[in-house]
Amino acid sequence: MAIDIEQQQQPSPGLSKIAISDTHGEDSPYFAGWKAYDENPYHESSNPSGVIQMGLAENQVSFDLLEKHLEENSEASNWGSKGSKGASGFRENALFQDYHGLLSYKKAMANFMEQIRGGRAKFDPVRVVLTAGATAADELLTFIIADPGDALLVPTPYYPGFDRDLRWRTGVNIVPIHCESSNNFQITPQALEAAYKEAEARNMRVRGVLFTNPSNPLGATIQRTVLEEILDFVTQKNIHLVSDEVYSGSAFSSSEFISVAEIMEDRQYKDAERVHIVYSLSKDLGLPGFRVGTVYSYNDKVVTTARRMSSFTLISSQTQHLLASMLSDKEFTENYIKTNRERLRRRYDMIVEGLKKSGIECLKGNAGLFCWMNLSPFLDEPTRESELTLWDSMLHEVKLNISPGSSCHCSEPGWFRVCFANMSEQTLGIALTRIHNFMEKRERAC
Ligand SMILES: Cc1ncc(COP(=O)(O)O)c(C=O)c1O
Repeated sequence: MAIDIEQQQQPSPGLSKIAISDTHGEDSPYFAGWKAYDENPYHESSNPSGVIQMGLAENQVSFDLLEKHLEENSEASNWGSKGSKGASGFRENALFQDYHGLLSYKKAMANFMEQIRGGRAKFDPVRVVLTAGATAADELLTFIIADPGDALLVPTPYYPGFDRDLRWRTGVNIVPIHCESSNNFQITPQALEAAYKEAEARNMRVRGVLFTNPSNPLGATIQRTVLEEILDFVTQKNIHLVSDEVYSGSAFSSSEFISVAEIMEDRQYKDAERVHIVYSLSKDLGLPGFRVGTVYSYNDKVVTTARRMSSFTLISSQTQHLLASMLSDKEFTENYIKTNRERLRRRYDMIVEGLKKSGIECLKGNAGLFCWMNLSPFLDEPTRESELTLWDSMLHEVKLNISPGSSCHCSEPGWFRVCFANMSEQTLGIALTRIHNFMEKRERAC
């Protein structure tokens, strides 16, 4: 914004309702923390007292494996020479792209999704719809299943980006399904029913339940019995179910993660038309910059509409070529998935152990790039204000950007999401030392 625009004599021309609406969700500590990090980012040598970014669910623990594969298979990322007829040729990448996507890419993606689920669920490449990340996939499905003013029920705490992705451009409302620490924030039939009633009381038509599994921000997978209850609920109410499974490959073991796809298979696809899955490579492969996501639906009409709408958010042909080649290398993907899971678990153990030494407990997790840390015993009062005061001290004194539970709509103050996979083990060690020193200082002051 460096170009100065001369002030007009007349008032500025008006903008659309969407443009001036505040449902973009960015006025939240979740985004404020990112800004503080951007202004003073930690660097081990050039800025060792800077802010450490622990508010970004990014996976960098297995970059070496990706880089090695790319080096050994450089022809897949090659643009091809002039006039090349090869699959990765420049002209093939440059010319008009069909919104159906490359079959080779969709096959590779469907196989990868099966592999992550230990082969316990099948994915049909024909149902894979290309989207620019899970952000676009979540919004696209919302556009398809709901109208402006309708409601989606979303269990809390939830990923703060949903306030933007599901609401802003679609005009759809989120009605929270309140989950509580007393049962490890599990979704219960009572909580589902209460949210449904709340939406009805607010004169909203409920169109579906949307959840993340494994959960962001809990870092835990949803149990089979709970998934069955949710499926029974949506069937009884005749509404949709969207399962955002972007963290499926980050479950520390494949057997601990049950995809809704597995249950569909067990139920022989009975009532499957209401079920839709969102996936992306942003978390499992650590490629958010590639913008690679998927809508996978068991509903033919939804697949057709999603494909039409995906024209707005396609994945570049070059990226499809590159990933088709990478994901169809079974030996590579098997090793990657296994090693990545082991490394994430190691990181998780490191952070949980380190926090314990500072007297801090976390929710027992088994997945994800973060842990759900309980600082409620350290609040001055059990309020959102107190939580934000503590968050502010963490950001400006301790210089750690962590996400307060209130930005995830958690109904109990004092919980924080802490990311551990977007930095080196050394940096994580420094973050843990900073927390330790802060807690000691607080104890001395008491
Ligand atoms: C649950 C969930 N859905 C969607 C996204 C967006 O992912 P993408 O980068 O693929 O758009 C995120 C990113 O943090 C997420 O946590």
